[in-house]
Amino acid sequence: MNSNQQSNRLLILVGSPRRNGNSAALGEAARHGADAAGSFTTLLFLDDYIQGFLPDLRHADVPADRYAELFLEHFLPADGVLICTPVYWYGMSAQAKAFFDRSFSHYAGAGPEPERVKTHMAGKRLGLAVASEETYPGAALGIVHQVQEYARYTHSDFVGYVHGAGNRRGEVALDPRRPLAAAETLGAEFFTRKYSDYRLETPRSHSVWEAPAPARAETPGVPT
Ligand SMILES: Cc1cc2nc3c(=O)[nH]c(=O)nc-3n(C[C@H](O)[C@H](O)[C@H](O)COP(=O)(O)O)c2cc1C
Repeated sequence: MNSNQQSNRLLILVGSPRRNGNSAALGEAARHGADAAGSFTTLLFLDDYIQGFLPDLRHADVPADRYAELFLEHFLPADGVLICTPVYWYGMSAQAKAFFDRSFSHYAGAGPEPERVKTHMAGKRLGLAVASEETYPGAALGIVHQVQEYARYTHSDFVGYVHGAGNRRGEVALDPRRPLAAAETLGAEFFTRKYSDYRLETPRSHSVWEAPAPARAETPGVPT
């Protein structure tokens, strides 16, 4: 597929150091689904590009690593980005967090073309895949909230979220909630899945889906 004609370029960022870990398995499943749907998909491990944190001088003395390549050549041109991270202490991994923090050096004013950078940071489709040892939903909610706020800030659409449980490498495949299947579906639907986030004034019908709602069995005497 020609990358110049895309509006479905999906970048999958894995924030775990484990190449065969659970976040990577979720990312690979999403890639499989996205490829099958015809998207132009790239999967990268964040620690191949990020070796340090945001420095005191935020636009100078940045770590001598490949973050600029990651951000400018992969992140900015992407139409959709799926963040895959393990839960570390009920938050995202340091690799994933550093990805967001380090973007400051590019959009905040002193770097080259900050307005162009901000334009391309906005309006993406975003997704999240999280792996944790604990199974309860709250273990990952801090990360969901953080990505939701990032989406709001950048005028992006947070279109989907998958949470799988596992501890040993690849163990997420044994989660009976089938998070790998959910990740594959998320990848397949990344650019087509319905997204809505209403405001008071949003024009809308009373239905969410176009197909008619399934008929309900009527109980005599009970108005429907
Ligand atoms: C430093 C560290 C902190 C962790 N903190 C949590 C935690 O707070 N809650 C949890 O459910 N799992 C926690 N885990 C377990 C990982 O989330 C789990 O093993 C996950 O499947 C790892 O994903 P990966 O294979 O992609 O690295 C932690 C693991 C590490 C190494």
